[in-house]
Amino acid sequence: MEKKYWIVTYGCQMNVHESEKIAGILRSRGYTQGESEQEADIIVFNTCCIRENAENHAYGNIGALKKLKKSRPSLLIAVGGCMTQQAGAAEKLRKKFPFVDIVFGTHNLDTLGELLDRKAGNRKVVVDIWGKEGEIREDDYSYRTSFPNAWVNIMYGCNNFCSYCIVPYVRGRERSRAPQKILEEVDALVRGGYKEITLLGQNVNSYGNDCGGEYSFPQLLRDICRRDEKFRLRFMTSNPKDFGEELVRAIAECPQVCHLVHLPVQAGSNRILKLMNRKYTAEEYLKKVELLRKYVPDCQLTTDIMVGFPTETEEDFQATLSLVREAGFATAFTFVYSRRSGTAAAAMDGQIPEEVQKERIMRLVELVNEQTREKSVAYRGKTIEILCEDYDKKKGLYLGRDEYGRMGYFRSERDCIGDFVRLKIGETSGVSLMGELAE
Ligand code: 5AD
Ligand code: SF4
Repeated sequence: MEKKYWIVTYGCQMNVHESEKIAGILRSRGYTQGESEQEADIIVFNTCCIRENAENHAYGNIGALKKLKKSRPSLLIAVGGCMTQQAGAAEKLRKKFPFVDIVFGTHNLDTLGELLDRKAGNRKVVVDIWGKEGEIREDDYSYRTSFPNAWVNIMYGCNNFCSYCIVPYVRGRERSRAPQKILEEVDALVRGGYKEITLLGQNVNSYGNDCGGEYSFPQLLRDICRRDEKFRLRFMTSNPKDFGEELVRAIAECPQVCHLVHLPVQAGSNRILKLMNRKYTAEEYLKKVELLRKYVPDCQLTTDIMVGFPTETEEDFQATLSLVREAGFATAFTFVYSRRSGTAAAAMDGQIPEEVQKERIMRLVELVNEQTREKSVAYRGKTIEILCEDYDKKKGLYLGRDEYGRMGYFRSERDCIGDFVRLKIGETSGVSLMGELAE
């Protein structure tokens, strides 16, 4: 009988890609993907701890497996990812969920295969969480599940210590992959028919700084784009503090780089930005937006914004709203500040009551949605190019995004997944566009 796996992923694209690596490891051990957790022989939780609700979600779902494990003791349950990497988390998991078999961290995700060997025939829980980042393992064993899109890590970790953020504590210091390795991975993907590649790092602008800084991120973009095949190149995330002219020029000059930049601003009040340790002001941020639009006039921007950071006043919040209006974001990911223990902000006075946070996020979301809708309406009647990436069975429609990240839906008699197609846009709703094939 074939052994089946089921992976539950929380959090960002970095985690989604890491789940592809976990899937690759399990497949190399003879597992294939199951249809549900009910029929799985191993369930892996790839957790996130960036906000409390992601963490609560994971704890809730792990707890819910108690019954399944009791009825089927041979079922293996493994918990990995950012959450386990926090101080005391492994102990908490062991106490709360003694039925968990394997606990591993982000630094040693690659060792999951070895941990499975250690677990075999062993009744005790196997806990292996490295306190320090190890060497980058370069074997590409990812089992990719999002054709025609592919994610490529260019670096791991973060050195920035924004005061609210747990990432530097759970993912360690910045480590860049060698350019040659990245170029080889991209080469194999493009030759394998992948059409959209997203380079991943917590702060891609500081790519290479840990290797002497001789080879920079803009150089990497230029080297990746030195080829003739048609594909799209995206990257995330850029920290505004290091976003400069050299990168803007590379975006303008490399034909494959999409004219959509994700540039998290977090807040519009300089006092809050300072408390967040972001190292730029609202004016400096807007200058960078201006620079980007000077070189790449059609460039769209997306961002991350947080409300309810400690001591945030109504006036500070108003500054965020005006920055959102001024920057004209295509869309924004909005978050309520979540107190993460061990971070500098967790110890700050002036934590904001939940009702105030809720009320502010509602106003922010309303503004962002309004702007997104306006940008959607501007698409009506236009013909755009999208990369078809999926088929929605429920709606009976194919879907894909344009260069600026807008989702377009359409009907088609033939399977278009992986093709660039032209769509004439009719109706729009929120962020979505309805179109007809214009071939
Ligand atoms: N609370 C709320 N949002 C957070 N983010 C990071 N840490 C926190 C936190 N403690 C958000 C930031 C970041 C995005 C990935 O998650 O906006 O850009
Ligand atoms: Fe967190 Fe700041 Fe690093 Fe982003 S740059 S991962 S927000 S510490």
